[in-house]
Amino acid sequence: TYVVIDNCIACKYTDCVEVCPVDCFYEGENMLVIHPDECIDCGVCEPECPADAIRPDTEPDMDKWVEFNRKYSEMWPVIISKKDPMPEAEDRDGETGKLDKYFS
Ligand code: SF4
Ligand code: F3S
Repeated sequence: TYVVIDNCIACKYTDCVEVCPVDCFYEGENMLVIHPDECIDCGVCEPECPADAIRPDTEPDMDKWVEFNRKYSEMWPVIISKKDPMPEAEDRDGETGKLDKYFS
C-alpha cells in the first residue's frame, strides 16, 4: 500500500484524489489518509503530491503510518474530488512537528 504521512497536515493539496483509480482517499479536518486494504499499489498518486506526503510502505519505518492510515480511513469520509488546499498550505509545507500539534 501507499500511505499519507505527516507533511499532508495543514496543507491538504488534494491533487492525489484526482488520480486514484479506486477512490481510496479519506478526508479529515487537516489531512487525508489512504485505506491500506483498498489501495492497489498503482503508485500514480505519489508524484502528484506537491508536499511529497505520499510514500510506499516498502520504505523503512512505515508500519506506524500504515496503522495511522488504516485507523483514520475507517473514521473519515471518502474524498473523490480536488478542492482548494488549506489556507496556509504553502507556508506550512515542510514544517516539523505537525503530527504532534494535530494528533496528540
Ligand atoms: Fe490510489 Fe494508487 Fe495511490 Fe493507492 S497508490 S492511493 S490506488 S493512486
Ligand atoms: Fe495531502 Fe498531498 Fe494529497 S498534501 S491531500 S497527500 S496531494
